[in-house]
Amino acid sequence: MLLAGPVGTANAASTATITAAAAAAPAAAKPNVVVLATGGTIAGAGASTINSATYTAAKVPVDKLLAGLPELAQVANVRGEQVFQIASESFTNDNLLALAQRVSALSKQADVDGIVVTHGTDTLAETAYFLSLTVHTDKPIAVVGSMRPGTALSADGALNLVNAVSVAASADARGKGVFVTMNDEINTARDVNKDVNIQTGAFKSQWGPLGMVVEGKNYWFRAPAKRHTNQSEFNIDKLTQLPQVDIVYAYGSVQPTGVNALVQSGAKAIIHAGTGNGSVADRMVKPLQDARNQGVIVVRASRVPYGFVLRNAEQPDDKYDWVVAHDMRPEKARILTMLALSKGASTQELQRMFMEY
Ligand code: DGL
Repeated sequence: MLLAGPVGTANAASTATITAAAAAAPAAAKPNVVVLATGGTIAGAGASTINSATYTAAKVPVDKLLAGLPELAQVANVRGEQVFQIASESFTNDNLLALAQRVSALSKQADVDGIVVTHGTDTLAETAYFLSLTVHTDKPIAVVGSMRPGTALSADGALNLVNAVSVAASADARGKGVFVTMNDEINTARDVNKDVNIQTGAFKSQWGPLGMVVEGKNYWFRAPAKRHTNQSEFNIDKLTQLPQVDIVYAYGSVQPTGVNALVQSGAKAIIHAGTGNGSVADRMVKPLQDARNQGVIVVRASRVPYGFVLRNAEQPDDKYDWVVAHDMRPEKARILTMLALSKGASTQELQRMFMEY
């Protein structure tokens, strides 16, 4: 169950009130929201209420998650689908494609007003960005997870899920792209990342959230600045596979072993998570140039979480025909690069895409 301990008791009384109120509101008056469940901590369970960080992810099925939240009936007509039941660190490209195809199909249905995806937080931002780039709809899509399992004291999943459904059901959220709604904030899929690995306020955008959702109402403070959903040149309805794009991480005394192995294994692009402003160690320049000369795209990103990589600053990108990831984290740069290469993009086109998406 998502509610635990004394809070659960207090909520039992309010639940009856909510259920009665919800029953009074005609179903036709409420938006229809579909919750696509993929696993993660929001579906996790721990041994006791004090286990806020020690638990098993991807255990609770979506119908049980929804049944534990009668408050949802006050917000929308909600139904669930269990797409996967996995911890998100184990997501694959095939999972991404299958999930996005289901989101796209549902978004085309007249009886669906909004979509929520429940997801493990580890790779949640990558999935949200992929949906933002490939699903053509102006219906709200909210991706949500939790940092504590529902069995823990002060679990965050219940309110996160109610807020996500509330945003997905909102007319004023249409046309704003894909959101990550956690910790009362509405972040854009493009900007948000998991910046803290053990706090409920884990997800942050260096350019700030779009707004907040509080007690079922959205408070907007900015609009998305980059292309998304209907504005995207990528489309999941025309995608069946994704090319191999890998990441190498830079550090003091790094050797070209990883780059060479990934090129040998068939990588079509390599995201170099450099130090500082995307810096490349002197002993790594030639291996990356060799990769480029073998047709492998090279993207300079940074292991530093904030700021953006400036083209031709740390390395002569024009001369080497390399690309810079701008402010995109390495793992999200990989998502965009896979999509770009699925359309046969040149390095010039890929560089444009990093500035536009
Ligand atoms: N195993 C991690 C995942 O599924 C747990 C993290 C979480 O969901 O909060 O992403």
